[in-house]
Amino acid sequence: MTDGIFGRESGHEQVVFCQDRASGLKAIIAIYSTALGPALGGTRFYPYASEDEALADVLALSKGMAYKNALAGLDLGGGKAVIIGDPATVKTEALLRAYGRFVQSLGGRYITACDVGTYVQDMDVVARESRFVTGRSPDDGGAGDSSVLTAFGVFQGLRASASHRWGTTDLNGRRVGVAGVGKVGHILVDHLVEAGAQVVISDVSPAAIERVRAAHPEVEVAPDADALAASPLDVFAPCALGGALNDRTVPVLRAEIVCGAANNQLATPDVEKQLEDRGILYAPDYLVNAGGVIQVSDELHGFDFARAKRKATAIFNTTLDVFALAEAEGVPPATAADRLAERRMSQVGRLRSILTT
Ligand SMILES: NC(=O)c1ccc[n+]([C@@H]2O[C@H](COP(=O)([O-])OP(=O)(O)OC[C@H]3O[C@@H](n4cnc5c(N)ncnc54)[C@H](O)[C@@H]3O)[C@@H](O)[C@H]2O)c1
Repeated sequence: MTDGIFGRESGHEQVVFCQDRASGLKAIIAIYSTALGPALGGTRFYPYASEDEALADVLALSKGMAYKNALAGLDLGGGKAVIIGDPATVKTEALLRAYGRFVQSLGGRYITACDVGTYVQDMDVVARESRFVTGRSPDDGGAGDSSVLTAFGVFQGLRASASHRWGTTDLNGRRVGVAGVGKVGHILVDHLVEAGAQVVISDVSPAAIERVRAAHPEVEVAPDADALAASPLDVFAPCALGGALNDRTVPVLRAEIVCGAANNQLATPDVEKQLEDRGILYAPDYLVNAGGVIQVSDELHGFDFARAKRKATAIFNTTLDVFALAEAEGVPPATAADRLAERRMSQVGRLRSILTT
């Protein structure tokens, strides 16, 4: 059998459909791999048009988490969950707690967290039914807002990219474009300004722009993300939605480095090659934006911000490792990142076959 969930294309360990008619819960939990440990990944609450669409999303997202967690050096596998429905109308205490009971029923094979449509307060509710929950509020022993270390990790990836490309981590005077100054982007701007970079931003939300300008009046504003990408920059940092690197933006991009927080920045796989052909250094998104998962996963050990920050600092060295592997093996950095993650999953994951008790 080579198609569907059991097919070679998928390779997932376990996919669980969860239903509680009374509360209206319809969820799918997908575990891609537990080779390195329990499968950690957030819960996306979204009004999918169909069950098939939800399934396709959770399969792709859970695989992505396995790679992200492996490359972040965590002892965690990869999983993800989706709850089908509009969070604005169907999210209730009963539904979240029903979901929590299904998470608990997996006995720790899957550990959940926030994602699109779920917030720290929701995780506090889920945690009333399950021990296997991260991303809770600080009052509940949680790590709180994961954007803090996500932005810090992206900044580390950016310094590593600068070191690889220019031989120095110094960003003083470098022109950096940040597309999207939401939860992560605005903190990244703080780091960049502190490092002496000249920052240009874009956002569809005037309020988001105003917040940055109030803190840093010297920051320039581009009319939109496309105009920002086409403007003279040293670094382009996509921090809004996915697909920022596409057939429209890459040909006009003037930055030498792309390093940002957004997930799934490459609109299509061939964009990776286009970036390489244009001599643009691309820091793989799931490598540099792992600070958030590093932050929430620290909750599993009793949250300690300083320890989580130290772990997120390692994104600097991993980024250098990925660029070195890319050069050594003659592949683009995104392929090198995948290879490094796969090697860790197989080499370290294999050790579990040595019985220690
Ligand atoms: N928050 C985290 O911890 C975390 C972790 C890993 C990855 N990410 C990824 O980073 C990205 C940003 O996440 P966030 O938490 O800051 O989200 P957010 O919703 O707080 O911020 C996104 C910002 O982008 C703006 N935006 C939307 N479309 C835009 C466009 N076309 N041009 C310019 N700006 C636009 C929005 O107005 C908003 O201010 C997302 O892709 C997310 O998946 C976030």
